[in-house]
Amino acid sequence: MSPRKIIIDTDPGQDDAVAILLALASPELEVLGVTAVAGNVPLELTSLNARKVVELSGKTDVPVFAGCEKPLAHRLTTAEHVHGKTGLDGADLPEPQLALQERHAVDFIIDSLRAEAPGSVTLCPLGPLTNIATALRRAPDIAPKIAEIVLMGGAYFEVGNITPAAEFNIYVDPEAADIVFKSGVPLTVMSLDVTHKALVTRPRHAAFAALGNAAGQAVAGWVGFFERFDVAKYGSDGGPLHDPTTIAYLLDPTLFTGRHINVEIETGSPLTRGMTVADWWGVTDRAPNATFMGTIDAPGFFKLLTERLAALP
Ligand code: BDR
Ligand code: CA
Repeated sequence: MSPRKIIIDTDPGQDDAVAILLALASPELEVLGVTAVAGNVPLELTSLNARKVVELSGKTDVPVFAGCEKPLAHRLTTAEHVHGKTGLDGADLPEPQLALQERHAVDFIIDSLRAEAPGSVTLCPLGPLTNIATALRRAPDIAPKIAEIVLMGGAYFEVGNITPAAEFNIYVDPEAADIVFKSGVPLTVMSLDVTHKALVTRPRHAAFAALGNAAGQAVAGWVGFFERFDVAKYGSDGGPLHDPTTIAYLLDPTLFTGRHINVEIETGSPLTRGMTVADWWGVTDRAPNATFMGTIDAPGFFKLLTERLAALP
């Protein structure tokens, strides 16, 4: 079978970086491009970090594009308190040789979907949905051409991580999320309900460090930095690895369970802005628009991730 074509839209971010490495290490996937968006840190840094990570993977034929530098309607909220000043604190990677593409990320997304066969390209957003929503708004003809959007964002049972009600990616640009959730494109949502079950315990961390390659060293360093915030907040046994769950889903969907339900985005209330109002219990007659994941086979996920990272330089 020919590899599945994907575009990774991302705001690296340590967990974004691990997701990019997992995708680039997996022969089942063909990464058409990596598109950066402002989120965890400003665009200048996310587009730099994306290039560093692609270069670390050795797959330097994968183009990296810079996209939107601010959300559709609000000022940018960043998360240096979680990811550090660079967004990728925890492992020092060299300045990349890989140049940033001149084309805007949104144009790349639109052009790719128009050029490829309908239903052949999957989008994997790992950050705020600004680039994806801008593409859908500017070129509505691309919506029916998208095979699926598999995104990390939102929460129902876990509620919020940046406010009491909202998960970071959705909170940063709820207007963009609203466009994506109303687009009619098949959506698979890796929420905090899933990712908070994907904890990097001591043995899992040690397994990354023991890989003996540059990728394993970087991942161990990133995770070691990234986890301190969540471990202190939740008292958990290791920090969650959010974004790689999207790529793992593409590689092995049986690792996850969820429900096809209606999910609406709160854009109005200042108190609950960015909340994913998920009708998990089917108490409304609103039409389902997303497969909202709730569980993960964590041992299976970490086995897959660690095995794939081992194949990298
Ligand atoms: C999400 O927000 C970012 O901090 C992470 O990279 C992840 O995409 C988790 O809420
Ligand atoms: Ca992210």
